[in-house]
Parts: sequence; structure tokens; C-alpha cells
Amino acid sequence: MAGNIVVLISGRGSNLEALLQQELDGDIVAVISNRPDAGGLEHARQHGIDAIGLDHRQYADRSHFDTELIKRIDSYSPKLVVLAGYMRLLSGSFVSRYAGRLINIHPSLLPSFTGLHTHQRALDEGVRMHGCTVHFVTAELDHGPIIIQAAVPVMPHDTAAALAARVLTQEHRIFPQAVRWFMQGRLTIDGNRVVLKNDCAAASATLIHPPLDCETAP
Ligand code: GRF
Repeated sequence: MAGNIVVLISGRGSNLEALLQQELDGDIVAVISNRPDAGGLEHARQHGIDAIGLDHRQYADRSHFDTELIKRIDSYSPKLVVLAGYMRLLSGSFVSRYAGRLINIHPSLLPSFTGLHTHQRALDEGVRMHGCTVHFVTAELDHGPIIIQAAVPVMPHDTAAALAARVLTQEHRIFPQAVRWFMQGRLTIDGNRVVLKNDCAAASATLIHPPLDCETAP
């Protein structure tokens, strides 16, 4: 049940790299960045994948930019569009065009900490668990049906950078998993819930890495 995947990025592309290293039951055929200097475009080129820099600053407004973005994406007839660190708000028409086949990775345990600076905000709130979420994209920012999450402990002396690194390791683990499930046709959206078919590993979709007692304070 293969199909094309188009990935949108804005930056370094470590999640893209994680996707490129795994069997996804589909092909990443193009990577598009709204920032032409995004490091992730180079990863794509190294893998022989179309790498397109589409500078949003060259367009009059979001609607014009998204219209061009849609044109580029649709030329690859993707089964799935993946936001892998795409840091630009999407227009309503973009989101509705790809409804049910547009997924995003967010660096928090949604619905906590939507938006930016999630790791610092998690530290400021004193939460003991933090993590990441892969979800379907809907009109409301960072609010769509959740496919998979991974939780990590917040350690006593964490900085935002240390916490971000711990979360990022889990992003690289769950994102390819979510894409693979989608490409295998195992995901059904039921209201705000995602139902995963035929996978006993689904029971372990929420994991805690590393175990809570694995680090001792200095
Ligand atoms: C990741 O933390 C992702 O969750 C967020 O943006 C960051 C992108 O990192 N949406 P990278 O470009 O994949 O390395």
C-alpha cells in the first residue's frame, strides 16, 4: 500500500533525517522549506530527493504563499503531507485541502504547551513529565487528533536545552512510527480520537524513556 509522502520543514531537519532512515511503507518524494537556507534541504538532496526552497517572504501574504505551496505539493500527488518542524502557520484552505492526510510533530505532550518554547514553559510550570506528540493537523493550532505520544521525565537540574534533547530523541522514534502506521492504512480518525488497527504494539504507544529513576541528581 505504498504512496508518496511530501515533507515540509523550516530548519535543521533532524526529524526529516529520522524519517529518511526508516522504512515508511511509502516514499518521501519531495521536501519543501519556507526557508531556502534550511539545513534539512541538504539532507534531502543527499538522499536524491527533490529539495525545494520556497521563500515565504517573496509572497504578498499567507494565502498567496499557501496557494503556491499547494501547487508544488500536489504536483507529487502525495498520500500524506508531513510537517517536520514546519514553523509557519497554515491557512484554513491549506489545512482543509489535506484534512486527514496532514500530520505534525509537536514537542510537548498535547494538549499541554501548544505553540512555541514548550521546553522552557514545561520547566517554568514544574511538570514532572514532558514529551512529544504526533497528531493530525486541524484548523486549531496543535489541537488535532493524537496518533502517538512519548513521555520523558523532567530531571531536577534540567535546562530547556537538556530537556529538548531528551524529547528530540523520542521525536525521532515516534514520528517514523506514526508515518508508517498512516502509510499502512492503519489509522482511522473517530472524532477527536485516532484508532489504530491491527497492531498489538499500539498498547505501548505511550512510552516513558528513559525510565524515571535512571538519573540521579549531581
Ligand atoms: C522539533 O522539535 C519539532 O517537534 C518541532 O520543531 C523541531 C524541528 O526540529 N515542531 P528538526 O528540524 O526536525 O530538527
